[in-house]
Amino acid sequence: MPQCDCFREGSEGRWIQIPFCMDRPHRPRSPPRRPRPRKPGKNRDENEEEDDAVGAAAGFQEIKTGEFEGAVLTPLCRGNPRPRFFEGEATALSNWGDLLKGPMRFPKPENRNMTGCPIPLMKTRKDSRSHSFRSNSERAQPLLRQHGRETQDFDDVISDLPLGLPAETRREVVQKLNQILADTMTLRDLYKKSHWQVSGPTFYQLHLLFDKHYEAQVDLVDAIAERIQLLGGISVAMAHDVAETTRIERPPRGREEVPVQISRLLEAHEQIIMEVRSAAQRAADLEDDGTNDLLVSQVLRANEMQVWFLSEHLVPMRLVVAEE
Ligand SMILES: [Fe+2]
Repeated sequence: MPQCDCFREGSEGRWIQIPFCMDRPHRPRSPPRRPRPRKPGKNRDENEEEDDAVGAAAGFQEIKTGEFEGAVLTPLCRGNPRPRFFEGEATALSNWGDLLKGPMRFPKPENRNMTGCPIPLMKTRKDSRSHSFRSNSERAQPLLRQHGRETQDFDDVISDLPLGLPAETRREVVQKLNQILADTMTLRDLYKKSHWQVSGPTFYQLHLLFDKHYEAQVDLVDAIAERIQLLGGISVAMAHDVAETTRIERPPRGREEVPVQISRLLEAHEQIIMEVRSAAQRAADLEDDGTNDLLVSQVLRANEMQVWFLSEHLVPMRLVVAEE
């Protein structure tokens, strides 16, 4: 019995895999093959020839060899190869890439719907009890340990988005934003390091101040990363990628004195501020006003404010007795 949502019972005792759902990717388990009842007066070969003729007329291609032998593939949907099974005795689906290696035939124009997808020819019963074959425990079982290939390369931007911005513009802006993002993530972590490792007479106030600035940097990281995704790009995310990308000098693992901690933070701020000003100007030139607004209104202003709060701590001011 099939053990996922993508199968329903079709005619002649066969299992039909319903079209792949992009919102809920999953890997169905292999349904066991069930012997198909023969049509009266026909032998097995005649039944299969008839099935092949129906599928071929609609542009469906049966996979002849390999792991997916017997499955029928409809490969085209709006330019993206999205394999589907149709009326075949569906076999295990372990990797879309493997599927795409199989022979394919694109549906004829008359067999596509308005979106370019193949018109499904699935036969279903009106009173279909589509999922009645699964027990409750099978239904609740998460489909674990799934692996797949990337769906978008890091350096790539989605080619067509209804934003009124050409892909080339978005690509350039995303590149600049990713640099600012990597540096902002580094500064964010530098604040946490300082928050933990600060010591001395000003411990308490700096401990709190560093954490407050850390929180503000967390918000900036999220805003920048989401702007990148919104523009169709991919945000740098993981620590090792950030470490390779950032231009901020790596601090030692050990503890440093307060003035050194603050100087380090100020230098990181300055690096980011220079990048932000340049990127904001470029975004304005490219008419990407949203990015320009984000960079100026949020990132630049927040960094400038934090620079003020930090730098005042480096003024050599007497604590108790005024200088005469
Ligand atoms: Fe803390």
